[in-house]
Amino acid sequence: MDVVQIPDRKIPSIAKGEKIAMEKCTPCHVKYKDCAQFGMLVSAMGDDYFGQYVTNQKWLIEREDGFALELKQKWGNDTFLHHFHLSEEEIQSLILYLK
Ligand code: HEC
Repeated sequence: MDVVQIPDRKIPSIAKGEKIAMEKCTPCHVKYKDCAQFGMLVSAMGDDYFGQYVTNQKWLIEREDGFALELKQKWGNDTFLHHFHLSEEEIQSLILYLK
């Protein structure tokens, strides 16, 4: 039987998630991040919502998504909008790491 080779880069992992978080998120989130709560929030968001939030938060705000507006308000309506170019695999890695 042939061994099926799955390219490594396609597999989400905690290590990849950590690298992405260090590069792209901790510059800001080191000051917000209460680790346990952040992880719980990411879990509560669900994968699809989290993906939408970090890659195109503007879309949620424009549609007056209740949860997104609530978070904005909670943080003093900071004008920053998450707009990261992340692949599905990178998003999954981040979720693994942050949870
Ligand atoms: C330039 C600063 C900045 C960067 C970089 C950044 N964020 Fe944020 N983030 C914010 C601000 C400001 C908020 C406050 C709420 C909002 O804007 O919705 C926030 C809120 C959040 C929240 C909601 C939870 C909370 O603390 O209320 C999540 C989840 C989140 N960010 C994930 C990420 C991830 C994942 C990355 C990296 C891919 C990232 N952020 C990078 C500024 C940043």
